[in-house]
Amino acid sequence: MITENMPLIDRNTLRLPASAEYFAELASESELRALLLDEAFFKLPRTVVGEGSNLLLRADVPGLVIRMAEKGLAVVAEDDEFVWLEVKAGECWDALVATTISCGWQGLENLSLIPGSVGAAPFQNIGAYGVELADVLDSLSAIHLYTAERRDFSCADCCFSYRDSIFKSAQKGEWVITSVRLRLNKSPKFSLGYADLKARFDQLPDSQRTAQAIRDMIIALRQSKLPDPKVLANAGSFFKNPIVSAEQHQRLQRHFPDLVSYLQSSGDYKLAAGWLIERAGWKGRRVGNVGMHEKQALVLVNYDAATGAEVSEFSRQVCASVNEMFAVLLEQEPVVLPVVI
Ligand code: EPU
Repeated sequence: MITENMPLIDRNTLRLPASAEYFAELASESELRALLLDEAFFKLPRTVVGEGSNLLLRADVPGLVIRMAEKGLAVVAEDDEFVWLEVKAGECWDALVATTISCGWQGLENLSLIPGSVGAAPFQNIGAYGVELADVLDSLSAIHLYTAERRDFSCADCCFSYRDSIFKSAQKGEWVITSVRLRLNKSPKFSLGYADLKARFDQLPDSQRTAQAIRDMIIALRQSKLPDPKVLANAGSFFKNPIVSAEQHQRLQRHFPDLVSYLQSSGDYKLAAGWLIERAGWKGRRVGNVGMHEKQALVLVNYDAATGAEVSEFSRQVCASVNEMFAVLLEQEPVVLPVVI
């Protein structure tokens, strides 16, 4: 179904006002390919959206805005240890997590309550509490936005890194993901690298150490820190945690002994952007309609009727002040649309 001048305010969790020139919601790959090859839309720019939980809409989006709505989940292979699941892009990510746990499959529990669709998950390699999509993704299928070519990407082809993939970098704006294949464990194999999670898990009696228990803990942790977008508009973490060299880390630590950082396998350090932003004085600070959240300084919130321009200006001020204090450049996490204004 195609709608002209479709308002997007209810389709982005930051609730920014913008519209799509043509909004197409598609229920199958064949519908998608027919649209992409339709001469009536041939010269238009094309953009893909999911549930809008990681979007910064700066202005109206020209051309075709495509959302894959196809649902479905099937076991495509199985052995003694693993199950391979194929999931269509239009499924809700958290509903998928809940379903896999109730089927007795493990691997997604740490990624509970992340908003958004299954198709959007690979774009930014969603991650939380020590697990990333890259850890469980076997492969995915995508259709090229301009040629309608169908291609399978292995996990390595996706070039995943922290909150990044080929779809957000080298081949940005080229593909629409139509389905993903995940490899899940049939027996318990939990990721407890996140200290707060491990501490809570270790307190449980053996009989209660289940994927469902981890899911419940993650839900409680997220709900205690992150504002519910249905109550207070936001797009989750608004900045990435910056990665700095060991030398820069050492310099920073000399000035700020309580700096929060995590050593990476590369020898670099990931800094907690929330800590930097809080230290720079932005936690709970509001300018007009926009602010950084009072419980988690990494989450930018739209209190009331903010525009994309207001959000961008506020974000620029936060970045400038963090850069001035720490000489660290913050990078925005949400996808900015339209690409050109
Ligand atoms: N911190 C502060 N002040 C704050 C917030 C955080 O000092 O206001 C410091 C604390 O020391 C805290 C540390 O930063 O211990 C880390 O905070 P938290 O555990 O809340 O995680 P995060 O690094 O702020 C990342 C992800 C989240 C994910 C959590 C848990 C990014 C950009 N964000 O946040 O992902 O849920 O870890 O794994 O990597 C998202 O991407 O939208 C998202 C919510």
